[in-house]
Amino acid sequence: MRLDRFLSETSPLTRSLAKRALKNGEVTLNGEPIKQSATQIDTENDEVKLNGERLALVGLRYVMMHKPVDVECTARRGLYPRVIDIIDLPKVERLQPVGRLDVDTTGLLLLTNDGQWSHRVTSPRHRCAKVYVAELAEPMEGETAQWAVEQVAQGILLDGEETPTQPATLRFVTPQQAELTITEGRYHQVKRMFVALGNHVNALHRRSIGDVVLPDDLAPGEWRELTAEEIASF
Ligand code: URA
Repeated sequence: MRLDRFLSETSPLTRSLAKRALKNGEVTLNGEPIKQSATQIDTENDEVKLNGERLALVGLRYVMMHKPVDVECTARRGLYPRVIDIIDLPKVERLQPVGRLDVDTTGLLLLTNDGQWSHRVTSPRHRCAKVYVAELAEPMEGETAQWAVEQVAQGILLDGEETPTQPATLRFVTPQQAELTITEGRYHQVKRMFVALGNHVNALHRRSIGDVVLPDDLAPGEWRELTAEEIASF
């Protein structure tokens, strides 16, 4: 593993701060000062110290949570408890939500300390499908519902944006409950798409991400580690 990546995964430093720490002579490799961030290290046997403190990998972790309402996906403490406050794992603060859900959105949330995996899930290039169920303020039926389905399939220009949303799939379960499948993760995307369609989302729930589906027996606030198959599915 590259030394700068090792530093960013084993200390609070970001990759760029790790490079700076290396330049400033704060890092030693097997007792010798080292400055080259591209140096490959053996993570099992090499001894890396930052300001005299030995660093070690925590191991990669992958978790799914049924996010309840009134819990935030942020790292900083705020008005509401954070998702990492309700997960009982060592070094939980290293887990990052893989894409965020709004504080009032429920459903499937993935968390990991594996930045590359997280990127594979969230990068729009990978077109990973996310399925949301929206409870709508106004019923949409007949021609209006058909029009909405077509708009979503073509792509919608959201307020303040210059490029339309990627083609997506809208299905009405009932006139006031719709299932929307999108492959991007723009800011408040689902709620803004329904605003663009002249409606309003009263409640939003994420059912799945790619092939990973929120299990029926995982109650709001509960979490579990992903299976090897789920991890490999991205
Ligand atoms: N889209 C939204 O509007 N909110 C979410 O929480 C997720 C997707």
